[in-house]
Amino acid sequence: MRLLTFSFLKNCKFKSILYGVPRRLRSDTALPKIEDDKIKEETSLVEISPSWGDAPEHAALRAAVLRDLHVTRDFVTEEEEAALMAELEPTLKRMRYEYDHWDNAIHGFRETERSSWQPHNEAVWARVRGVFPRDMPLLAHAHVLDLAPAGHIKPHIDAVRFCGAALAGLCLQSAAIMRFQHEHHKHLQFDALLPRRGLYFMQGVVRYSFTHAVLGGEGSAWRGARLVKKRRVAVICRARPGGGSNTTT
Ligand code: OGA
Ligand code: MN
Repeated sequence: MRLLTFSFLKNCKFKSILYGVPRRLRSDTALPKIEDDKIKEETSLVEISPSWGDAPEHAALRAAVLRDLHVTRDFVTEEEEAALMAELEPTLKRMRYEYDHWDNAIHGFRETERSSWQPHNEAVWARVRGVFPRDMPLLAHAHVLDLAPAGHIKPHIDAVRFCGAALAGLCLQSAAIMRFQHEHHKHLQFDALLPRRGLYFMQGVVRYSFTHAVLGGEGSAWRGARLVKKRRVAVICRARPGGGSNTTT
């Protein structure tokens, strides 16, 4: 099932050269670990990189980032997570994780789509769809992306041909770090800590002006602590391409 990767990632603006696990983190197994119970205590799940600086011309952009990215903890309960996994697992299990050629946008993944759900999962899916602006048309199907513990997604911007003005992703089975970098001003970076069972939602400048990447197991760190990324399953809802609100302000 390669169709999804080709749709969303192969056709998007993707710069393999930019990607790299920061060297100092690569073998930093000595860092303290951050586990799910510690993540609950984190006051903010978005961390602007110090490299951003405090130049006044970037202050408005920083405010826009905080406006256009939302990370919600505990969007689903443990029971809802288990029910979603029970429905998805038989399909996912039949597939092998793909570890592709080095220049591909995504490594250590398998994926599927789902357009109808068992009733209890349908209710969760409806809640995900409920976070979008009411007038924004959405794709009917969910994109389900299962990343192996060492799997990662390189920096990219979702192709406008395949994704409209916003997207939301449920993060199941493991927390992960999503890293964002401005397409033109590389020092404008920030990380989001995506907790297990949380939901992220991005639109506006975050959707269109920043690349996003999901870091692999070894490079995942948050405020000086190592995040042990396990297998992670994302259930992603995207706005329909060409559905309006294609702006960055
Ligand atoms: C994608 C993507 C993020 C995630 O499929 O384009 O960026 O949460 N996925 O897995
Ligand atoms: Mn993406």
